[in-house]
This record gives sequence, C-alpha cells and structure tokens, in this order.
Amino acid sequence: MAMLKPSLAFLVLAFAFFLCFIMSTGSYVYFQFVQQWPPTTCRLSSKPSHQHRPFQRFTIHGLWPSNYSNPRKPSNCNGSQFDDRKVYPDLRSDLKRSWPDVEGGNDTKFWEGEWNKHGKCSEQTLNQFHVDVVQYY
Ligand SMILES: *[C@@H]1O[C@H](CO)[C@@H](O)[C@H](O)[C@H]1NC(C)=O
Ligand SMILES: *[C@@H]1O[C@H](CO)[C@@H](O)[C@H](O)[C@H]1NC(C)=O
Ligand SMILES: *[C@@H]1O[C@H](CO)[C@@H](O)[C@H](O)[C@H]1NC(C)=O
Repeated sequence: MAMLKPSLAFLVLAFAFFLCFIMSTGSYVYFQFVQQWPPTTCRLSSKPSHQHRPFQRFTIHGLWPSNYSNPRKPSNCNGSQFDDRKVYPDLRSDLKRSWPDVEGGNDTKFWEGEWNKHGKCSEQTLNQFHVDVVQYY
C-alpha cells in the first residue's frame, strides 16, 4: 500500500504532463501528404498572376499533421523558427523542382510558410531537417 500511493501520484502527474504536451503541441493522429496540380492552384490563387508558375505536373504542397475531427488542424503552433540554412544543401535543387512555390515564385518563402503553419505542430516527431528529407523521398 505504501508503494501504491506514490506510484499513483506519479501516474496522475504523468497523465497531466501528457495532456499539457498534447495541448501545447496540437494533437494530430496522421500526416496528410498534400500534392497540388499547379494550373488549378494558379487559377484559384489570389496572388498576382504574373508570378504564377503553372507547371504541368503534380508538385508537393506540404506534409500536414492532421486529426479526424478537423483535417485542417492543428495549425500555427508554437515551435522553432524556420531556418533556411537547415535545408540540406544537396537536396535544395531537388526540393526546388518537386516542392516549388507555384503561386509566388519564392520557394524559400513557401517552405517557411508551410513550416510555420504545419511543420511546427509536429516538430517533436519531425524537425525541420527531417521534414526536408521526408518531403524528398
Ligand atoms: C484536433 O485538433 C484540434 C486543434 O489542435 C483540437 O482542438 C482537437 O481536440 C483535435 N481533435 C482530436 C480528435 O484530436
Ligand atoms: C504560443 O505561446 C504563447 C506564449 O507562450 C501563447 O500565448 C500562445 O497561445 C501559444 N500559441 C499556440 C498556438 O499554442
Ligand atoms: C524569399 O523568401 C525568403 C523567406 O521569407 C526571404 O528571406 C527572401 O528575401 C525572399 N527572396 C526574395 C527574392 O524575395
């Protein structure tokens, strides 16, 4: 009995920390690997059309941590700043081909936006460097 109380307290505490963790990171249960058809993306885009790049091939939009109750959540979580220097140099030209910014033409800015909106929410599982590699393969 003397052993049970501390371990129960520990479990309750651990569960509380677990809940805090879930709430602070935004909960998700699966990843959506989202690709886009650039001509359609450009047609629906609100950005200036002279910057559009309507490639005739599917390109990557992003890897989004998602849950079933709201597939667009979680988003815009707290996390580490996007750092362009963490983009693995050998992958950069491949990333620019498979993960281009088809609406605005600044690939780095697009990657940064995807990191801020989605990547930060699953940073504990896939940090910025790993996301580059996952996006590539
Ligand atoms: C889905 O994510 C939202 C935002 O993070 C959260 O409020 C909600 O509880 C989550 N739902 C499930 C079933 O995890
Ligand atoms: C991010 O952290 C700030 C301060 O620590 C907090 O006020 C804010 O609600 C957090 N945002 C999210 C999305 O967790
Ligand atoms: C592209 O976006 C990045 C990140 O937002 C920014 O640092 C850079 O100055 C931009 N480049 C151009 C040419 O606008």
